[in-house]
Amino acid sequence: MDRLIRLARVTEPINVWDYERLAEQRLDANALAYFAGGAGDEVTLRDNLAAFERRKLRPRVLVDVSSVTTATTVLGTDVSMPVLIAPLAFQRMAHPDGEAATARAAAAAGTIMCLSSAATRSPREVAEACAAEGTRWFQVYVFRDRALTEGLIAEAVECGFTALVLTVDVPYIGRRERDLRVDFRLPEELAPYGERLKGFDATLSWRDLEWLAGYGLPVVVKGILTSEDAHLACEHGAAAVVVSNHGGRQLDGVPASLDALAEVVEAVDGRAEVLVDGGVRRGTDALKAIALGARAVLIGRAMLWGLAGAGEQGVAHVLELLRREVELGLGLLGCCSPAEVTRSHVT
Ligand SMILES: Cc1cc2nc3c(=O)[nH]c(=O)nc-3n(C[C@H](O)[C@H](O)[C@H](O)COP(=O)(O)O)c2cc1C
Repeated sequence: MDRLIRLARVTEPINVWDYERLAEQRLDANALAYFAGGAGDEVTLRDNLAAFERRKLRPRVLVDVSSVTTATTVLGTDVSMPVLIAPLAFQRMAHPDGEAATARAAAAAGTIMCLSSAATRSPREVAEACAAEGTRWFQVYVFRDRALTEGLIAEAVECGFTALVLTVDVPYIGRRERDLRVDFRLPEELAPYGERLKGFDATLSWRDLEWLAGYGLPVVVKGILTSEDAHLACEHGAAAVVVSNHGGRQLDGVPASLDALAEVVEAVDGRAEVLVDGGVRRGTDALKAIALGARAVLIGRAMLWGLAGAGEQGVAHVLELLRREVELGLGLLGCCSPAEVTRSHVT
C-alpha cells in the first residue's frame, strides 16, 4: 500500500513538461500533430523555447521578501498572476469539455482566458459555463465572410467579453508539415468548426483596426514582431500588443518571441501594454519576459497539455504550478511583486 501511494505520488505531474508527456500519451497522432507542430523546419518553434534558456536572471539578495504577491493588472483588470491563457483553436479535440473547462479553470485561478475565433464552443456557451465568473477576451480572426466574423464579435460583446484580440499573423495558414504527414483532419463531430478557417480575409489592413475599435472594447493586436508594426499598432489605437509568432506555426525563420520583445517594448514606449507568448513553460520564463518589459505572458501549449492530460483540473493545476513558480521566482529574485521586476533582473 505504502509503495503504491509513493508510486502514485511520483507519477503526479509536477511541472508543465510532465503534462506535455501525459498529453502525448492521451492524444492520438492526429491531434498531437496539430497541437504540437510548427511551420516549416520548426526552427522558430524550437527557438521560442531556447530563447528562454539563453536569458539569465540577475537576482538581488538581502531584500525583504517576506511578503510576495504574484498579482498584477492587465488592461486595468486585476489578475492573480502575470500569466494569461492564449487563444487556442479546437480545444474539444484535446478534451471533451474543451473551452468550457479552460474558461472555468482560468476564472477559478483569477486570470484571463482568451477565446479563439476557431473555438469549438461559442462565446455564449463559454460565458455560461463560467456562470459569468472570470474575465474573458475574444480573439478575432477576420474571415472573408464578414457577417460570420461580426456575428461572433457581437456575441462575445453581448456575453461580457472585455477585449478584442485581433490576430494579425494569419493572412494564410502556415504550412505545418506534421499535419501533412498525418493527413490531419478534425474529428467528424468537430468538422463544422473547421469550415470557417478556410476563408481568412487576406485583404486585412491597419484600417480594419479602427473598424474593430468601433465595438467599444479595447483592441489587442496579437502577432507583432517588429518595431515598425508596433508603432503602427499604437498609432491605430491598440490598447495592447502581443509579441508573438503564433507558437512557431506561421512564418518559420522569424525570431523567438522573447528575442523580439525588447524591440517592441522600445517602439511602444509606454503607449500600450506589451504582452508576449511563445515557449512559456515555467514561471521563470514569465519573469524573464517581465524583466524585458512585458506586462504578462500568455500560455498556449502549456495550458493545452494540462487540458489534454486532465481536463479542467489539468488546466487549473498548470496555472497553479506556474503561479507558484512565479511566486518562488519573485522571492528568489529579490522582488515582492511583478511590478518590482526591472530590466536589470535579466541579461
Ligand atoms: C494548437 C494551437 C492552436 C492555436 N490557435 C490559435 C487561434 O485560434 N488563434 C490565435 O490567435 N492563436 C492561436 N494559436 C497561437 C497561440 O495563441 C499562441 O500564440 C501560441 O500557442 C504561443 O506559443 P506556446 O504554445 O509555445 O505557448 C494556436 C496555437 C496552437 C499551438
